[in-house]
Amino acid sequence: MSIAVLEQERLFEIRMKHSSYLFGINEQGTVQHLYWGNPVEARECAGQLALRSHSSFDPDLNRNMEEYGGWGGSNYTEPCLKVRFADGVRDLKLRYEGYEIIGDHHLVLRLRDAHYPLRVEISYKPAGEYDVLERYVTVYNEGEDSVRIDQVMAAAWSLPGLPAYRLTHVTGRWAGEYQLRTQPLTEGKKVLESRQGFTGPHANPWFAIDNGKADETSGNVWFGALAWSGNWKMVLEKSAFGQLRIVGGINDFDSAFTLEAGESYTSPAFIGGFVSGGFGAMSRNLHRYQSQTILPGSRIRKVLYNSWEATEFAVKVEDQKALARVAAGLGVERFVVDDGWFGARSSDRAGLGDWTVNPEKFPGGLEELIEEVNGLGMDFGLWVEPESVNPDSDLYRQHPDWVYQFPTREGTLLRNQLLLNLGKPEVKAFVLDFMTRLLDTYDISFIKWDMNRTVTEPGNIPLQAHEGESVWVRHVEHLYEIWAELRHRFPEVEFETCAGGGARIDLGIMRFADQVWISDNTDARDRLTIQEGFSYAYSPSVMMCWVTESPHGMNGRSLPLSFRFHSAMLGGLGIGANIGRWTAEERSEAGQYVELYKEIRHVISEGSLYRLASFEEGDLASYQYISRDQQEIVVFAFQQAQYFGSGVTRICLQGLQPDAVYAVAGGAGTADTPWHGSNLMNIGLPLTLRGDYASQLIQLKRQA
Ligand code: DGJ
Repeated sequence: MSIAVLEQERLFEIRMKHSSYLFGINEQGTVQHLYWGNPVEARECAGQLALRSHSSFDPDLNRNMEEYGGWGGSNYTEPCLKVRFADGVRDLKLRYEGYEIIGDHHLVLRLRDAHYPLRVEISYKPAGEYDVLERYVTVYNEGEDSVRIDQVMAAAWSLPGLPAYRLTHVTGRWAGEYQLRTQPLTEGKKVLESRQGFTGPHANPWFAIDNGKADETSGNVWFGALAWSGNWKMVLEKSAFGQLRIVGGINDFDSAFTLEAGESYTSPAFIGGFVSGGFGAMSRNLHRYQSQTILPGSRIRKVLYNSWEATEFAVKVEDQKALARVAAGLGVERFVVDDGWFGARSSDRAGLGDWTVNPEKFPGGLEELIEEVNGLGMDFGLWVEPESVNPDSDLYRQHPDWVYQFPTREGTLLRNQLLLNLGKPEVKAFVLDFMTRLLDTYDISFIKWDMNRTVTEPGNIPLQAHEGESVWVRHVEHLYEIWAELRHRFPEVEFETCAGGGARIDLGIMRFADQVWISDNTDARDRLTIQEGFSYAYSPSVMMCWVTESPHGMNGRSLPLSFRFHSAMLGGLGIGANIGRWTAEERSEAGQYVELYKEIRHVISEGSLYRLASFEEGDLASYQYISRDQQEIVVFAFQQAQYFGSGVTRICLQGLQPDAVYAVAGGAGTADTPWHGSNLMNIGLPLTLRGDYASQLIQLKRQA
C-alpha cells in the first residue's frame, strides 16, 4: 500500500491492496477525481485532467468530478462546502495549494479560496489491507471576519463511468430495521438521510454501488459508510453525462453555523471502499476494517441474559435473583437488568432521569442482586437511557430548562419522555457524573445505553454568537465525549449502543461500543432478515441477538428452540426469554446450545462471514463462518417451509481451500467422511433439514 505523488504530472495515487484511487490537479487548479477501482498505472492517466465542456449549459464537466467541490461558479452538483463570507459573497473557488504526507498513511491536500483566507484540508487515510479509504476535511477560517457555513460535507466519492448504476442500501422502521433494498440510479438525485437527531431506523449511513450485475461472489462493488450518529445525509447524484458522485456528511438541514475568525471545523469521517469480489467480499472487508481499526476491546462476546422481555418494568430483586439462578444454570456469563430498576419507574410514564436505585424494588440495594449474580459466576450489566427524561421525574422538576424546547411551544412527548439538551455543558456534566457514580459505586461490567425517541424541538440555536456547531451536532459530539471519557475512566466496562433497537448504529458510535442491539424484534425468523441486512455493512462480532419466547409476542409465530438458538448464534448470543417458565427439557437443551456457542464463538466473532443463501431468494437461508486461521468452519442453515419433493438437500460452501480436506461433524450422515474443499464448494454439503422452520448447525475442521 502506498501514497505516491507524481509531481510532474500533478497526479496523486493511493494504491491499496487490490485497488487504486487517483486524482490530480487540473489547469484551473482544482482537484479533479480521475479513477477508483481495480489497480491501474497512474502515470498514463495524466491526459484525463484535460478540461471538458459540452455547451454553455454544461461549460465545465470536470466540476462534476471535483474531489471536494465548493458551491460557486458553474458547479451545480451537490456541493461539499457552501459558505457565505462576511461581505455577503457566497461564491467559493477552492484552489489547490499543496500537500503533506504524515507518516505512511495520511495524505493531506491543502486548498484555499482564490480570494478569501478560507482554507480546506482534505485528509485521506487509506486502510489498504481492506481497500478502504477514510476521508474527512478540516475547514479553517484564517481571516478576521466570521464565515457562515451552510453545508460542509465529509467527502465526495466519484465513481468510474458504468453503463448502469445500482444502489444497495437499507431502510426500516422500529422493530424492522436493516431491510435491504436495491434500485437502479437514473439521472438526478437519490438522498439517504436522517433528520431525527440520531442515525435513525429508516435509513443507515451506508451504501453500495455496482453495475447491476454484481452478486455475493463476483462483480465490482463500491461502498461507503459515515462515522456519524446524528443527522446525516448522503446524496447520490447521477449527472446527465453519466457520472455518479456520492456526497455525504453531517446533514446540512437546519445546521448552518458560523466559523469565527481563527476557528476551524473538522468533519466526521466518510469511508469509501472498492472490491472486485461481490457483496460478500465487500462485507468481509468492512467487517475486518471495523474489527481492526474501529471497534474497541475484545471481539469475543459474553453470553448474556437480559430480563427485559421477562419482567419489563416489574423489576424486583427476588424475581431477578430467581432468573439469575436459572441463567447461570444455562451457562450464561453476564446478567443484565434492563429498564425499571431506578426512580419511580414502574412504567414508561415516570422516573426516567432519576438514576438512583428504587428502594422498594431493591430493599437491600443493587448490591444484593450483584452479589448474587457474581456468586453464581456471572458478571453484572445495567440498562440506562441518560439522554431522556420523563416530565414526571425529580430531574425534570428540578431542571425543566434542560430539555430541548422552543420557548413558545410545548415539547412533543414520545414514549412519555422528553430529550435532554446534551449540548448544554451542565447536562453533559450531569450525565457524566451520574454514570461515573453508578460505575464507581457498583460492580458493573456492562452498560446498555438506550435512547427511545427522536429529537424534536431542538431549540436554543445560537443565532449570532458562535457556540460551536448547531444544536444537532453538539448533542452527538458531547455524546461521543461522554462515551470516550467513561471508557477511559472504566476501561474494563463494556458498552452496548441501543436506540429502541438498532437506531443508533454507525461507524461513529462503534468507536466506543463493544456491541450493538440491532432490533427490538427478537422473533428469530424476522430477525434473520434484519441480521442479514445488518451484516452487509456491519460486523457480526458486535451484533447481539437474543433467544426469546415462542410463540413470539410481536407476531405470534411459534419456532422451535433450535431455530431460535441457531438464529441468535449468528452474532453475540443472548437470552431474553422468561427462562423461569422454561421446562427442565428446554433448559437442558438451551444449556447445550450455550455450551456449543462458547466452543464456536471465536469463529463467528473473529472469523469471516459468507452469506450462502437468503430468504430473499427462497426458503433457505444459510450463513458460513471461517475462523481466522482458516482451520474451522461453522455453517448454519435455516429452512422456512418444507414443500414435499422440493426440499433443499445441499448447500455449496465458499472460501475454502479446494485441495484441503475438511472433516464434517453434524452433517447428514457424513460425520466421519472427510470432504475436499473443492467438493464442499462445488457439489455442496448435504443438509438434513426437514419440516417448517427447521435449522441445522454444521461444524467442519480442516484436516490437511
Ligand atoms: C428499548 C430497547 O431496545 C429494549 O431492549 C429495552 O431496553 C427497552 N428500550 C427498555 O425501555
